[in-house]
Amino acid sequence: MKEINPDIVKVLITEEAIKQRVVEMGKEVADAYNESVPLLVGVLKGCSLFMADLIRHMNIALEMDYIAVLSYTEAQQASGAVRIVKDLDTVIEGRDLLIIEGIVDTGMTIGYILRNLQARQPRSIGLCTLLDKPARRIVPVPIDFRGFEIPDHFVVGYGLDFRQRYRNLPYIGILKDEITGLAQSLKKNFS
Ligand code: IMP
Ligand code: MG
Repeated sequence: MKEINPDIVKVLITEEAIKQRVVEMGKEVADAYNESVPLLVGVLKGCSLFMADLIRHMNIALEMDYIAVLSYTEAQQASGAVRIVKDLDTVIEGRDLLIIEGIVDTGMTIGYILRNLQARQPRSIGLCTLLDKPARRIVPVPIDFRGFEIPDHFVVGYGLDFRQRYRNLPYIGILKDEITGLAQSLKKNFS
């Protein structure tokens, strides 16, 4: 048995379960896009491990690009304000986009990205997220492909971080309260 990081209170989704689901999702997504060449838009940095694994199970022609955003502080977030810190390199007008996210929580980040990209007139926009945490949803977002629905816990691993760490864990784990609870203010800066 592999060692579990001591900061993790519980493994929510094992490495094996992730692998199995990502294979299924890759096939499902590829089937949905087998008549066009979709542009996969990864939302950095949480998408990184998921996207890299997903595309290995998509046996179709596709292109990849990335977008990176920074959420503003909690107070400002009430307005859904998000700032793009790395924009796409690709012109997306007329393209079929598939956004790849690690987790949808309140929905504010992805809600902003959807509105922003929609304004550039792609032919279609799909949303694929590994994790869906519906308990905290504020902005309703249409999720087309979902890996796992999870309860309201702060999770890390497989690309997801707490203060930029733990992205390299091969599983999704719940972080100990004494780490996430160190200072309440830190929680405002999830992303
Ligand atoms: P939103 O609340 O849906 O806008 O999510 C904003 C961002 O917060 C996500 O893209 C993640 O980067 C981050 N986030 C939300 N929940 C978690 C979590 O449980 N673990 C790690 N990051 C999270
Ligand atoms: Mg983060």
